[in-house]
Amino acid sequence: MADVVAGSPQISSGLEGVYITESSISKVDGTQGRLYYRGYSIDVLAKNSNFEEVVFLLLYGKLPTADELSEITKQLADARDLPDGVISIIKEQVGKADPMDILRTATSALSAYDSETADMSKEANMRKAIRIISKASSIVATTGRIMAGGSYVTPDKSIGHVANFMYMLNNKMPDKLQLDIMRDMFIIHAEHSSNASTFGTMVAGSTLADLYAAVTAGIAVLKGPLHGGADEAALKMMKQIGDPQNTEKYIESALAGKQKVMGFGHRVYKAYDPRARIIKEYLISLQADASPELRNYTEIALRAEKMMVDKLGQSHGIWPNVDFFAGPVYTAAGIPLEIFTPIFAASRTAGWCAHMIEYWQNNRLFRPLEKYTGQIDLQYVPLDKR
Ligand code: ACO
Repeated sequence: MADVVAGSPQISSGLEGVYITESSISKVDGTQGRLYYRGYSIDVLAKNSNFEEVVFLLLYGKLPTADELSEITKQLADARDLPDGVISIIKEQVGKADPMDILRTATSALSAYDSETADMSKEANMRKAIRIISKASSIVATTGRIMAGGSYVTPDKSIGHVANFMYMLNNKMPDKLQLDIMRDMFIIHAEHSSNASTFGTMVAGSTLADLYAAVTAGIAVLKGPLHGGADEAALKMMKQIGDPQNTEKYIESALAGKQKVMGFGHRVYKAYDPRARIIKEYLISLQADASPELRNYTEIALRAEKMMVDKLGQSHGIWPNVDFFAGPVYTAAGIPLEIFTPIFAASRTAGWCAHMIEYWQNNRLFRPLEKYTGQIDLQYVPLDKR
């Protein structure tokens, strides 16, 4: 029942503080700044795991045995190829559409090539989840490859998911540093409870629209700069700052103008985002061999972080989030800015699919209410009398 106090509905703006379901997939502890996937701390997973294992963990709720891990690794590898029709969509849209829009359109188009699209059994949805998770990375890599003037790189099924992503993107095998960075980024971005894009996925899926439709909705929601798009916006800001000496002046004037500084703040974390901490540590560890460009970004990022935390950390609960340090780290791995958010989405397909499959076990259509503030029973005036 809606929460009604003295005849007036209570509106929770942005659904802040509203619980929409029960879930055992991930826990975001916004007070302590902790994140757990199926009970395992993100710090432990980033240090020890790989993307395939995290996909299994999210979908099946437990760490895989060795046999299970090799089975899911094989399933993800076997699903990597893209249909010709989807490659054509990517080719047609590169240069015209934002890479997040290309990912959204191409993911939606995948439904036409899957004979199980309309099969809503749990088993079929688990199989489709593997195909979506696998192919989303191929779509993003192919988009990046074509943006760079190349053409579709046939996936290498003998290597891991993240290595293959880098291989399809660059048409060459990643070095160890690139692989380590991207493995961590894929793990860190795989899941984050009922954020806007997961909720968007669940709203679409709650109508019993299929998994492709639901994930397509999730991609659409992730695009915005208040959500996943903040990683690109934060690096654009660092580029705009240019010289580290300008950092404090830039932040000061942004705050004075009531502008939001991208990569800071979070609806749930009122403490340091644990994912930002992992990425920041990574960035610092890269300094010994950093290019001048990376050193510049790092200095800007650290100076901006200090100022924001001094001004808004303890006092307002505004800390760096997952998106703030991501740009410089992606840059160290040679990833172009335009595909930061699509990579986030490709990784997050794991969380979206896990949530959708969990929610469908006890599905209920999402249908909230709004408090109507307009008029009623107005007299219709014919067009020639207005
Ligand atoms: N920079 C400056 N001020 C901020 C920031 C920021 N990044 N974030 C919040 N604030 C301020 C707001 O201006 C507002 O101040 P006011 O009360 O004086 O008006 C107050 O904090 C509350 O802000 P809201 O936007 O209402 O808080 P909300 O809970 O909706 O914030 C959000 C969450 C949308 C992420 C916000 O912090 C933001 O816009 N951050 C920048 C964009 C960003 O980095 N998004 C990525 C989030 S992580 C992710 O989605 C993967």
